Amino acid sequence: MTRDELLNAYPDIFVIDHPFVKHKLTSLRDKNTNTREFRMLVEELGTLIGYEATRDLETEDATVETPLETTLSPMLKGKKLCIVTIMRAGNGLAEGVLKLSPSARVGHVGMYRDPETKQPVEYYLKMPHSVDERTIIVVDPMLATGNSAIAAIDKMKEMGAKDIRFICLFAAPEGIEAFKKSHPDVPMYVGAIDRELDEHAYIRPGVGDAGDRIYGTR
Ligand code: URA
Repeated sequence: MTRDELLNAYPDIFVIDHPFVKHKLTSLRDKNTNTREFRMLVEELGTLIGYEATRDLETEDATVETPLETTLSPMLKGKKLCIVTIMRAGNGLAEGVLKLSPSARVGHVGMYRDPETKQPVEYYLKMPHSVDERTIIVVDPMLATGNSAIAAIDKMKEMGAKDIRFICLFAAPEGIEAFKKSHPDVPMYVGAIDRELDEHAYIRPGVGDAGDRIYGTR
């Protein structure tokens, strides 16, 4: 499916249309952006996109005493958020979302791609308790084939999660289509939908290897 067909077919794919987001995504694409700048930009984008992904969180009125009087004022309702990072590139993005909600819980999912089957294999999983009562925000900067995100969300659902959202910075149309076939109920908050995946499963034009660029590895 093309980008427009995907956006028409799935009204819960939100491409964040904001000048700050667009500007920072372009800086990420630039091969001359260094590790420090890249890491900061990923974090900042995590905050900006996380803000949109949490716009509908429920609030309830709490009683608060101002210096002048007692009043009712809204506060977040329910259990703390859970941000789930798909390691390792997701960690940078998770830091940005945490700025919105510093007391959020953080789950970690580690996956690698089996060179034979090309399927994701889980090597690490650590989640907080009461996954079924929390809003779960799964983060990974790059949605390429979609396999890791699909497998991570499969796991969240197996653990009982009911309110799951997914954030990425760059997505390939192929990855979005696969994701939505597996998880039509999970809204996606995306920085940009790029042209395609290449034969090495890199997103084009993309940013290259996001994990390597965040951590300065190769
Ligand atoms: N992971 C990355 O880091 N970059 C891509 O382009 C695809 C997957």
